[in-house]
Amino acid sequence: MRYNKLGWSGITVSAVSLGCAQFSNQFTMTQKTEEDMIAIMHRSLDLGINLWDTAPGYGNGYSETMVGKALRGRRTQVVLATKVQYHHWTPELVEESCDASLKRLDTDYIDVLQVHWPSRTEANEMTIAGIALLVKKGKVRYAALSNFNQSQTDLAGCVYPVVSNQLPYALVWCYDEPLIRHCGECSIGVLAYSPLGEGILTGRYDETSTFPPGDVRNHCVFFRPQVMPLALKVTAAVKCIATKYGVTPAQVAINWTAQQPHISSVIVGSSSIQQVEQNAAAVQWAMDDTDIALLKTASDEYMATAPRFETMWDE
Ligand SMILES: NC(=O)c1ccc[n+]([C@@H]2O[C@H](COP(=O)([O-])OP(=O)(O)OC[C@H]3O[C@@H](n4cnc5c(N)ncnc54)[C@H](OP(=O)(O)O)[C@@H]3O)[C@@H](O)[C@H]2O)c1
Repeated sequence: MRYNKLGWSGITVSAVSLGCAQFSNQFTMTQKTEEDMIAIMHRSLDLGINLWDTAPGYGNGYSETMVGKALRGRRTQVVLATKVQYHHWTPELVEESCDASLKRLDTDYIDVLQVHWPSRTEANEMTIAGIALLVKKGKVRYAALSNFNQSQTDLAGCVYPVVSNQLPYALVWCYDEPLIRHCGECSIGVLAYSPLGEGILTGRYDETSTFPPGDVRNHCVFFRPQVMPLALKVTAAVKCIATKYGVTPAQVAINWTAQQPHISSVIVGSSSIQQVEQNAAAVQWAMDDTDIALLKTASDEYMATAPRFETMWDE
């Protein structure tokens, strides 16, 4: 495993981290048992993955509860990142959200507490100030952001130093590159989420694929009829490179995001032991410049032709 510093902090995080939204009813994972989910989390630690990312919103607390179970006896091995519950903007509500997370996670501190989405109506500075109070109380080590744009990031930083911003970044979602650069220049770490485009870049899905009710892919833009054929052109390029290196398409897509400038860690969701093993190994080889350029061309073409959505799940 490769490790990077998380922003200006002294924390060292693995270049690939474990996304824990999979341990909820948002993905097909619900067909697995608690033991299966805990086994995936424990395997990730054996593989050198030390950052786990969860949220109160993943399965309405279910993911945090599962993470809490997997953490028993292993707390010190994990950089634990979770988020503030949606709509909990005031310092009082931020603390209420944090206390509920601590209970579910069965721990007495959170390493990185992120504001999940910025508010469009309330002052985000108030929420950051709420996290700052929790750092003072010892419940949280670092304040952080998720899905904040540049001006929101700058404003947040004026209230309290934030250690990272969690942003979507994949070959089929490069809109935030200027923001990522800005974060890097401000020594704010970037945690890149959905590097597989929720699975579209793995080569496993086509126009005939269906997902069970409740699976987030039913709303994800890459799986919509007007977008999928364009996204699958990128997947085809990914598959070509995978064949050349004898790796899987998922490993190519993760490797591409991980080697971009300013990326502290790539948050990948794994639904099985096999996936987590592949994903951990995705940063243990290097693509040559020609292949990186080839992927960039496919990505640029997609970005130029695909409809622009505000989020990956835009209505
Ligand atoms: N901050 C935010 O707003 C935000 C938003 C989204 C995600 N996230 C975080 O980012 C994490 C990852 O994002 P994501 O789950 O949206 O997307 P992702 O990591 O791009 O895709 C994950 C899905 O890809 C498939 N997959 C994973 N590894 C694979 C492999 N080696 N081979 C084949 N298929 C593979 C699995 O699908 P199956 O389950 O069908 O097997 C898995 O559920 C989440 O768990 C969460 O922690 C944060």
